[in-house]
Amino acid sequence: MRLKVLGSAAGGGFPQWNCNYRLSRDVRNGVQGFRARTQSSLGVSADGRDWIVFNASPDIREQIAATRELQPREDGPLRASPIQAVILTNADVDHIAGLLSLRERHRFVVYATARVLRVLAENSIFNVLDSELVERRELSLNIPTPITDWQGRPTSIVVEAFPVPGKVALFLEDAGKAEEGFGTQEGDTVGVRIRQEGHDGAVLYVPGCAAVDADLKERISAAACLLFDGTVYTDDEMQSAGVGTKTGRRMGHLHIGGPGGSMDLLADVAPKRRIYVHINNTNPILDENSPEAAAVRAGGWEIGYDGMEIGP
Ligand code: MLT
Ligand code: MN
Repeated sequence: MRLKVLGSAAGGGFPQWNCNYRLSRDVRNGVQGFRARTQSSLGVSADGRDWIVFNASPDIREQIAATRELQPREDGPLRASPIQAVILTNADVDHIAGLLSLRERHRFVVYATARVLRVLAENSIFNVLDSELVERRELSLNIPTPITDWQGRPTSIVVEAFPVPGKVALFLEDAGKAEEGFGTQEGDTVGVRIRQEGHDGAVLYVPGCAAVDADLKERISAAACLLFDGTVYTDDEMQSAGVGTKTGRRMGHLHIGGPGGSMDLLADVAPKRRIYVHINNTNPILDENSPEAAAVRAGGWEIGYDGMEIGP
């Protein structure tokens, strides 16, 4: 199984279009130790030919342009794409807006939980994906689902979606239900366990996660590789950067550093390969030379970047 990080940044990307915080400025200025990053997405393939894209980011066009494997094969038909399926882990803008760029009459399948499929159904702009060509299939929770293409041909990739502590998409928050997670329900945010049929070594992809519960801990301890929510390093990072008022927790993202952070909470279960993805443009680990990046590396974690390859 091959995995490729297509986009390692959180919503907004890095640099973010309207951000003048020091990190966005430094990456714009080409300062050593910085890399630009597109928004959150992962490509997975069993055979290197057929690909499944986890989360369709607003940067998907750029991501395809940067990834030869996702482009039409030279010996292929006049209109074609190696992308057989798109799997969504929530309905945030950074994970679904790219579906709009996948129109143009390509046949593929969208897999998501009932909650996320409902968001697509309720927003008629997604009808640009002609339902005759793009089937939407429900991903049941806690059941391994063999992913097949539009014709029902197996891709050899099996995906199990499992609920994680999180939050309903920002644009669907119900302010009247602030005490109850702004109306968040099970299936709004999931992690996925990805494996190739007949092979050991499952990968867990959890780009959004607000807390570590016993179920998640157990799943992580059984995985060979973890790609995990690296949105913020400290919970109050947006405030101390002066760019916002929300904490990581308020956004549905567990911070990385310090007591109660993901490095701390996962120290005793983390698989050999563990990688932070969905990194926000305020996170100091975006500076390779920062003490926070050094601390993450010392904790045995890797810092995801666009084009990063994992496997076989
Ligand atoms: C998030 O991960 O918190 C969201 O992507 C925020 C957003 O929609 O911009
Ligand atoms: Mn996001």
